[in-house]
Amino acid sequence: MSMDYSLPRGTQDILPDEINYWNHVEQTAKHIFSLYNFNEIRTPIFESSNLFNRVISESDIVKKEMYTFTDKGNRELALRPEGTASIARAFITNNLSRAPQHSKLFYKGPMFRYERPQAGRYRQFHQIGVESIGSDHPFSDAEVITMSYRLFTSLGLRNVKIYINSVGSDTCRPVIEARIKQFLASNLSQLSENLQEKFKNNPLKILDSKDETLQTYLSGLPDMREALSQQSKDHFNFVISYLDHLNIPFEYKPTLVRGLDYYTETVFEVVSEDLGAQNSICGGGRYNNLIKNLGGPHTPAVGFAFGMERLIMLLKKQSIPIPKRPVLVYIAALGKEYQMECLNIAEKLRNNMINVTIDYSKVDFNGHIKLAQKMQADYMIIFGEKEFESKQVSIKNLANRHQDDVPFAGITNYFQTILGDAHV
Ligand code: HAM
Repeated sequence: MSMDYSLPRGTQDILPDEINYWNHVEQTAKHIFSLYNFNEIRTPIFESSNLFNRVISESDIVKKEMYTFTDKGNRELALRPEGTASIARAFITNNLSRAPQHSKLFYKGPMFRYERPQAGRYRQFHQIGVESIGSDHPFSDAEVITMSYRLFTSLGLRNVKIYINSVGSDTCRPVIEARIKQFLASNLSQLSENLQEKFKNNPLKILDSKDETLQTYLSGLPDMREALSQQSKDHFNFVISYLDHLNIPFEYKPTLVRGLDYYTETVFEVVSEDLGAQNSICGGGRYNNLIKNLGGPHTPAVGFAFGMERLIMLLKKQSIPIPKRPVLVYIAALGKEYQMECLNIAEKLRNNMINVTIDYSKVDFNGHIKLAQKMQADYMIIFGEKEFESKQVSIKNLANRHQDDVPFAGITNYFQTILGDAHV
């Protein structure tokens, strides 16, 4: 029987062509986050399964989608399905509550969920996320929402929508749930079995359902903000007025409740119509009880995470240009006897931060130029007998075919002059 070495279902290779998008998004995110004084944190890809069982016990992510395994020491471990639980764990483990300022952290990396793969939904996917830990002030909610808006707009995305809602605090939750039950009670028998079960156990989650018939019953749902305690109402109103103040466009969506179950107060999502079924790029919200529930000090926090794959799909869909890679110089030795000299030129250019590729298999002009074009090099340095004799190389601009003769000693200078600061 032959072995199966195929790519595991729901995973993908990210090839060099694609990686420019990844780098661009990662760099932009890092840049925006640092404008708000968020600093990077890296935590392990696997954690004790208990961590996720504790933090997101009610959601499908833990019930059905966790990649769990037992290691050789009989530890029950899980590949992280999301970042927030890990960051909360790290906050406790490293006593970050003792830090002088509240912790503003960001992270990036692979997450794992055993979901049914489809466009925009994978088993290994990548998130970039932020967690602002240690303040219950609505400024923090508004700050992370503003930061996400700034990130998506500076990437050039169009038509993204921010939806926000409040799921209230622990004290509001029963009131909200009672309202939902009251509103749907007369239509209960029309709902699917799954929804009836939610009606009983976790009515808030009903709102999140994509069930078509449910949507018709939900129209006319009363303003859920009325069910919030005064304190939660004030909190939410403050977030809204801050966003208004900064002209951040958002829409109040009373049915927004999010899949993970640690949220309190503000929840939000960034969606795009251009993405099809998996239209949520970014999700987040406040989680005031999570760190305490894990045995840490009472520490309110708020954050979000977005999916790299979905974001990049959207960049492509909207044909948003990303920065070109740096200029590439191809060096062509026309004969084996000139390869050593070419090597010196290459290293000298690299010392000056210019990207260089050199190929030793080709020794004729036609072979070189074909390869240089295939590699999408920008310039080709030609070094053959003529150049050796005259102590000048020919430098060809591969875009416009213009060619210059440049003395050996002037090569670096030549590129520095034409590239200016553009290549660094
Ligand atoms: P989440 O809504 O589960 O939230 O995931 C956030 C984003 O990750 C989604 O909007 C989506 O773009 C991406 N995503 C999720 N699952 C998949 C998948 N299977 N394939 C591709 N992309 C996916 C969280 O994970 C929370 N930890 C966010 C958060 C941070 N809340 C507070 N702080």
